[in-house]
Amino acid sequence: MMTPALQATDVSLAFGRLAVLQSVDLVLHPGARHALIGPNGAGKTTLVNALTGELAIQAGRIILADTDVSAAKPHERARLGLQRTFQVNSLFPDLSAKASVVLSINEREGLGGHWWRGARPRTHIVDEAADLLARLGLDAMMHRPVRELAYGQQRLLELALALARRPSVLLLDEPAAGLPAGQRAGLLEVLEALPNNLAILLVEHDMQLVFEFASSMSVLAQGRILADGPPDQVRGSEAVQRAYLGARPDHPVSFA
Ligand SMILES: Nc1ncnc2c1ncn2[C@@H]1O[C@H](COP(=O)(O)OP(=O)(O)O)[C@@H](O)[C@H]1O
Ligand SMILES: [Mg+2]
Repeated sequence: MMTPALQATDVSLAFGRLAVLQSVDLVLHPGARHALIGPNGAGKTTLVNALTGELAIQAGRIILADTDVSAAKPHERARLGLQRTFQVNSLFPDLSAKASVVLSINEREGLGGHWWRGARPRTHIVDEAADLLARLGLDAMMHRPVRELAYGQQRLLELALALARRPSVLLLDEPAAGLPAGQRAGLLEVLEALPNNLAILLVEHDMQLVFEFASSMSVLAQGRILADGPPDQVRGSEAVQRAYLGARPDHPVSFA
C-alpha cells in the first residue's frame, strides 16, 4: 500500500460548543484528484484550515507523507509540501504578477528577503516565474500590478503562487467561486494539466466541475463525512441523497 500524501484520521474541532468537525477521516494519495463537497456551513473550509494548521484540532491526527503534523504550524506544513489557495483573494495588489511568483519561488529556495532589498532576482527564477504564468494563461498580464488583473486572473495567480512552492499536496477552497460560467472550463483545463503526482483536494460547489475533475470524493455535512469513494458510488449513496440533497428515495436528486 502506498503511503498517503495526506491523511486525516478521526479529526474533531469545535468553536466553543459548536462541534464543526466530528471524527473526520480523509485520505489523499499521491496524484489524488479528490473533491470535497457539502452544503454551506458543513465545515469544508474549517477542514481545510485544520489540514493546513491555521486552526488547531482538538482530536485526531494529521499525517503529511510520513510526518505527523497534527500540532505543526502552517509554515512547517508548507515546508513539508502542503499548499492551499484561499476562498478569498490574498494577493499584494501593487506587486506585478511576475514579481508575486518570483517571491514565492524565492521563498521556496530560501532566498526570501533579497527581492525586497533590491537585489535583482536570478535569471532562472524569473524564467521559471514566466513559464509558470504562461502555463496558467497569464503571460500577457505578467508585468501588470495584481490589482489590474481580472478577478478570475487573480484566482489563477493565487494558484500560481501555490504551485511555485512545488507542493506535494494542494488544497483548493472553491477556486471557481465568483468566476463567470465561461471561465470554469478554463479553470478545469488548468487543473487537469497540473503534475500527475500532485495530490489535489478540491472544495467545490459546481457539480459539473466536480464530476469532470474528481476521481474520488468525500461528502461532508454538519461536520461529518457522509460518504466517500469514487464519484459514481458517492452520487448513488442513499445517505448522501437523503441528508445532503434532501431527497426522498423515490425522488433521487441528480448532481450534475
Ligand atoms: N472562526 C469561527 N468561529 C466560530 N464559528 C465558525 C468559525 N468559522 C466557521 N464557523 C462555523 O463553522 C461552521 C462551518 O463553517 P465552514 O467551515 O466555513 O463551512 P463551509 O466551508 O462548509 O461552508 C459554520 O457553522 C460556521 O458558522
Ligand atoms: Mg467554505
